Amino acid sequence: MTFDRSLKIAPSILAADFANFGAECAAVEAQGADWIHVDVMDGHFVPNISFGPATCAAIRPHIKGVMDVHLMIAPVDPYIDAFANAGADVITAHVEAGPHIHRTLQAIRGAGAKAGIALNPGTPVTAVEELLDVADLICVMTVNPGFGGQKFIDMTAKVRALRDMIGDRPIHIEIDGGVDPTTAPLVRAAGADVLVAGSAVFKGGTATNPAPYGENIREIRAAAE
Ligand code: DX5
Ligand code: ZN
Repeated sequence: MTFDRSLKIAPSILAADFANFGAECAAVEAQGADWIHVDVMDGHFVPNISFGPATCAAIRPHIKGVMDVHLMIAPVDPYIDAFANAGADVITAHVEAGPHIHRTLQAIRGAGAKAGIALNPGTPVTAVEELLDVADLICVMTVNPGFGGQKFIDMTAKVRALRDMIGDRPIHIEIDGGVDPTTAPLVRAAGADVLVAGSAVFKGGTATNPAPYGENIREIRAAAE
């Protein structure tokens, strides 16, 4: 994985057909997705359950590019090796998920993946100030995590402050929640480079009729650029 700040669209498979993840990942990549965003929920840190490392391992062979795993789980540390062994390129943990996020980020890197930190909407940007040397990605949540299809919460000022704080460090800024052609330009202008989008990418298409995925991705990209 090489670092750059070019715009990357990362469809969240939370909005895909759960009975057909392999084909959905391949279809959305063929239609122009840059990364595949994989949302892991435990029914404890967030009020919903999605799937775990076995599902990540099963879909890995169907993804050519970056598999971006967003852990909405607590605790995180006992499961890092399982997600790294499943082939995650990026593993993102929430700063709110435990008292030892610094150790968690070191452990993610130690397992051979890029280390991401996610921030809930209610968490200030100062929460990551001491973590910049151990992070490869910071995910600014623009919804309260747990469900797809929620309304965008404007975190533009937080993204701008984060972009200033990062300076020249090779750290991606990712936005997750409610990204569509109207909200994407706001966060891109504020300094984000990875835009996660679930419902806005998968609406209208299927793995056997994937053209709408391409149209949706192009629409988000064009609006953001
Ligand atoms: C929220 C997840 C998001 C979500 C994005 O808990 O982390 O990745 O699925 O879905 P949309 O784009 O529909 O808000
Ligand atoms: Zn996510």
